[in-house]
Amino acid sequence: MKVAVVGATGLVGTKMLQVLAERNFPISELLPVASERSVGKDVEFKGTKYKVVSMTDAIAAKPAVAIFSAGGSTSLEWAPQFASAGITVIDNSSAWRMDPSKKLVVPEVNADVLTADDKIIANPNCSTIQMVVALQPLHKKYQIKRVVVSTYQSVTGTGKKAVDQLMGERNKAVAGKNEEYPMAYKYPIDLNVIPQIDVFLENGYTKEEMKMVKETCKIMGDDSIRVTATTVRIPVMGGHSESVNVEFANDFDLNEVKGLLSSAPGVIVVDDNATQQYPMPMDAHEKDEVFVGRLRRDETQPNTLNMWIVSDNLRKGAATNAVQIAEYLVSKGLL
Ligand SMILES: NC(=O)c1ccc[n+]([C@@H]2O[C@H](COP(=O)([O-])OP(=O)(O)OC[C@H]3O[C@@H](n4cnc5c(N)ncnc54)[C@H](OP(=O)(O)O)[C@@H]3O)[C@@H](O)[C@H]2O)c1
Repeated sequence: MKVAVVGATGLVGTKMLQVLAERNFPISELLPVASERSVGKDVEFKGTKYKVVSMTDAIAAKPAVAIFSAGGSTSLEWAPQFASAGITVIDNSSAWRMDPSKKLVVPEVNADVLTADDKIIANPNCSTIQMVVALQPLHKKYQIKRVVVSTYQSVTGTGKKAVDQLMGERNKAVAGKNEEYPMAYKYPIDLNVIPQIDVFLENGYTKEEMKMVKETCKIMGDDSIRVTATTVRIPVMGGHSESVNVEFANDFDLNEVKGLLSSAPGVIVVDDNATQQYPMPMDAHEKDEVFVGRLRRDETQPNTLNMWIVSDNLRKGAATNAVQIAEYLVSKGLL
């Protein structure tokens, strides 16, 4: 089928092309799309060069599906135009996630909500995706009441400019190079930790934190789950990490928790204190799974678990999740 990748020159778009190729998604014609600045440039897919086309040319070519990773405002403007041409849009931005008429999907959790009528499907925020993949099997068994999450997020979640800032700062500090680099953040990120992701809201939380609160309930289909989040940027590239404290309505057995997670789709348990095995972003990098470890009881209150969740934010947090949605649509004949 014809597939458009919108934002094909960006960090997520590049990863999207890689994941589509690796998973052998059935593509007869690829339409890479980016801003007017990039039209005519080449991108590579499966060893072949493809020319970047404009939005209007992509719509005119009538692909079956368009996977968008080009920012919220681009998506708000263009996704409806693709949809009204009969093209199914899978959107990585935050533009449609909380729109009650749009589905917000993590295939391991709620792919079954999708129908052929869904023409704009939202891909959740990266930090939410990896958390719900690990929470879902536990929620089914023990019923989650409350989640307290603190994140340790990779600079790749901000895009190319942030990677350039981190590497520029590092080259300056370590190699003494005095090359120009862009500032994606207000502050240095190398040798630093920034406790702000996205803009501040009226309630004192950041938009990223409130995304984790709202998206978790929507994906898991349960508004009774209370989530409170602190989202933090750290000078790391391989993936996002999360310290998650979960209170359940019902008590659990730690070995049973490990068993449930080990057999859950998309989850790999890495949890052995004796050999110091736990998930780390350098190991999750370039993998599609969600890694869970440091499983232990919170000894300060009943029915409460502490866990550590790591995943590659550009893969499961963005590209892989979007491609899995497309694969599900194909497998159910919904495209
Ligand atoms: N990075 C993550 O972990 C992550 C995770 C989930 C979702 N997302 C979302 O994915 C999107 C892209 O993120 P990124 O990290 O890949 O950013 P990025 O590296 O800055 O790439 C942005 C892409 O969007 C294209 N673009 C920008 N304005 C456009 C326009 N008006 N029309 C068409 N294309 C346009 C750019 O094309 P040019 O090269 O021509 O400028 C580029 O291909 C964002 O919405 C982000 O929120 C990111």
